[in-house]
Amino acid sequence: MRSPFVAGNWKLNGSRSSVSSLASEIASAPASNVEVVICPVSLHLSEVAQAIAGSSVKLGAQNACAAEAGAYTGEVSSTMLAEYGCEFVIVGHSERRTLFGETDSQCAERHAAVQRAGLTSIFCIGESLQERESDQTFSVVERQLNALIDVSGDQAFENTVVAYEPVWAIGTGKTASPEQAQAVHAHIRQYIAGHNADAADAVQILYGGSVNAGNAADLFANADIDGGLIGGAALKSKDFLAICDAASRSQDS
Ligand code: 13P
Repeated sequence: MRSPFVAGNWKLNGSRSSVSSLASEIASAPASNVEVVICPVSLHLSEVAQAIAGSSVKLGAQNACAAEAGAYTGEVSSTMLAEYGCEFVIVGHSERRTLFGETDSQCAERHAAVQRAGLTSIFCIGESLQERESDQTFSVVERQLNALIDVSGDQAFENTVVAYEPVWAIGTGKTASPEQAQAVHAHIRQYIAGHNADAADAVQILYGGSVNAGNAADLFANADIDGGLIGGAALKSKDFLAICDAASRSQDS
């Protein structure tokens, strides 16, 4: 049985003091039986680590360099993130792919570096609107998963949480319907099973894209949707905690 998992991706938001308050509010009332991770910008990791200390909430980063050290101006490595208490790193987010040009293979190299450092990669995949409309959703997620298999082979899905985030649903208020999301999640699991059946059973697959307190329960009720990667709604503790609660209740149903 896979445990429900909810991660908040705070993206480029917050100040030193506002992230501390938000993290404290989340840490003071986490839902039971749900893995909850919050991912501030790297600069705010220390503040957030202090605010969640002693709670069950875990810390994640929003990206990590494929290299451990060296001449990579502007980057942060997984080993450095681990020193700050990070257990998770988001890799291959669509904003990294589209705005910063990270390719499938670069994302896969970053993913492998996260694994090497002993952290868990929250690896993001998903199609654009144009790709969905031209019926390429399955081939796009297969291509993105294949990059991991090419780089990491049998280890591709060790210490990995997969996040399916259709690009057209991110920050747009247009959520994939529970049926649309479940269909892609089932395909992702089946595709991973073709490579490694045990990994496919164990891997948590999150849905991301305009998840809110009102739609979370319907999404999480599906067999292959193990939780969510939350953007905008993770910036309000009440909304984020309601989503965590929906994930907790999905386990009972
Ligand atoms: P929204 O929840 O704001 O659509 O963002 C989703 C996302 O990109 C999480 O990584």
